[in-house]
Amino acid sequence: MTADQMAERVRRLREEIELHNYRYYVLDEPSIPDAEFDRLFRELQQLESQNPELLTPDSPTLRVGARPVSELAPVTHRTPMLSLNNAFAAEEAEAFDRRVREALQLDSVEYAVEPKFDGLAISLSYHNGILVQAATRGDGYTGEDVSANVKTIRSIPLRLHTDKPPHLLEVRGEVLMLKADFERLNRLQREKGEKEFANPRNAAAGSLRQLDSRITAERRLSFFAYGVGVLEDGELPPTHSAVMDWLEHLRLPVCEQRQTVQGAEGILAYYRAIGSQRDRMPYEIDGVVYKVNSLQGQETLGFVSRAPRFAVAHKFPAQEEMTVVEAIDVQVGRTGTLTPVVRLKPVFVGGVTVTNATLHNQDEVDRKDVRVGDTVIVRRAGDVIPEVVSVVPERRPKPDPQRFNILEQYPVCPVCGSRVVRLQGEAAARCSGGLYCPAQRKQALLHFASRRAMDIEGLGEKLVDQLVDTGLVKTPADIYRLGMSELVNLDRMAEKSAANLVAAIERSRGATLARFVFALGIRNVGEATAKDLARYFRHLDALKAADLAQLQSVPEVGPIVAESITRFFAETHNCEVIERLRGVGAWKDAESGEAFPLLALGGKTFVLTGALPSLTRDEAKERIEARGGKVSGSVSKKTDYVVAGADPGSKFTKAQELGVPILDETGLLALLAE
Ligand code: IVH
Repeated sequence: MTADQMAERVRRLREEIELHNYRYYVLDEPSIPDAEFDRLFRELQQLESQNPELLTPDSPTLRVGARPVSELAPVTHRTPMLSLNNAFAAEEAEAFDRRVREALQLDSVEYAVEPKFDGLAISLSYHNGILVQAATRGDGYTGEDVSANVKTIRSIPLRLHTDKPPHLLEVRGEVLMLKADFERLNRLQREKGEKEFANPRNAAAGSLRQLDSRITAERRLSFFAYGVGVLEDGELPPTHSAVMDWLEHLRLPVCEQRQTVQGAEGILAYYRAIGSQRDRMPYEIDGVVYKVNSLQGQETLGFVSRAPRFAVAHKFPAQEEMTVVEAIDVQVGRTGTLTPVVRLKPVFVGGVTVTNATLHNQDEVDRKDVRVGDTVIVRRAGDVIPEVVSVVPERRPKPDPQRFNILEQYPVCPVCGSRVVRLQGEAAARCSGGLYCPAQRKQALLHFASRRAMDIEGLGEKLVDQLVDTGLVKTPADIYRLGMSELVNLDRMAEKSAANLVAAIERSRGATLARFVFALGIRNVGEATAKDLARYFRHLDALKAADLAQLQSVPEVGPIVAESITRFFAETHNCEVIERLRGVGAWKDAESGEAFPLLALGGKTFVLTGALPSLTRDEAKERIEARGGKVSGSVSKKTDYVVAGADPGSKFTKAQELGVPILDETGLLALLAE
């Protein structure tokens, strides 16, 4: 870099850092992850230290934070609230210990160690034991008065638990939001159609820096004390750990995981121990803090510009990083759900290199508005699948890339080419390929063979995987082509088990229609519905030909189930598979040719006369037909029932003459209910 380029880089870094400071501290709306901010900050620090002529008094490296917002009253801190230097690698933590040992001229140093809470710093002023003021850190010298808001935090005592309170005690600690409370808050925000918070820390900051403390009260904030800023008219115990014990006695919340350890070995062991608990902790932490335990030692070490020399924050690998979206594809799941997969420029986050992240469905794509070319914040915590947290709006390429819409981009399934549908009221887009779609094949085959479906014993997950992976079985119909010669060639398939499987496949032929319909794995058609459908339609062809209205006339079949069924049979692939299954005699239809004969009114003829008390004539007709009956206009010997209301006509007398049973409305309803 030339001198000019260096100066330009420094100028740009400052501008960017100031912008992010403003977004973080004033707007509570950071757009880049902390790790990225740290890098920008470090780069600037490094350039300034290598080129001292570039250091200006207004450089962000010379101050702690940003200005407070204007609306909350400013509070000047009695002693500044500084920040901690960071260590990222074990060597940096060891170097910290070495510097401390040298400065204190000790062989081994005792440290008070505690988690580094990922929230925001506040100071609590207790006058004669009464909480009189709470302030945010602000720029470290001047913060904001958030007393009213802090008083809504239940765990913070309004009065210290002691008979002899000091004249003034200023407690310092961190306000944060528990992970569970954060999830709950975002759920509520979503339900109200309001903006969600990117992470618990933003949620805590946004909740604390409220002008209306009633909002803070609803937000469930937590607090942990980590030190004392000022003590007047009292004496502190000699170590940090004893100070913390004292605060605990005063009934201030302190963290249970705090410890004292010895030397570099002790701090690193603590780092590993807390690191392994990180994902199970009820709140977010971004590292651990090591503090020289002796307060006298702390005093000897003192401060350098913006941080103490007696403490350091040893950060965990960042769980959020920034990278670029290279493409958005979809993945077809075992049940046909199309899940958007964001292909990322590889990025190291949460301890691994991440190249993909999922977005659950179109709703999430819309909410986060992720587009190809966008710079996004990616989060990976523990073993969970990496997720896209948000887009960095300032880094969206120009002109705006196209929005991603699953149904537009994928009208057909990328695996099998069947239509992709998004059913009403469902968040997921689905491949309608069913049995035909290889992505769904294994699941479909397992279901087909399962005990309550075709009951093919021995056709389990491992075998299905092999059969599909070797291409031997593509659809359930292929199962019936499997013979000894194909099976014995498979991995770990003894002759005996192959023979057993062949026999089980044979036995499954000629299944009842109910089992077969269930085995097809039509969405929303469970075992009970399959039985109803089989009883009602009796022939697969009748079920296949049924329209939405006919399907819905089956008891318990509503519009959603009916739609799933018609969609299933509308796919030619599904029908082809069924035809092949018919060819191998997979199922047996009912013997008699008539559709609906098993219904209560199957094949019965009704004649309506006179006005019924509650049903209109059309309603009565519809109900009779829905149960398989027919309604005719005239009475004959073939008429099964005459339904008579008030003022019946000649049909009534005719029925009496012919001896046809006569029902009133109650009688009809009873028959319909049978
Ligand atoms: S002690 C002189 N202890 O980290 C500063 N700070 O970068 C003494 N933090 O603003 C701070 N957990 O908000 C301390 N156990 C802990 C902490 C902690 C989180 C935050 C604090 C501070 C920032 C420093």
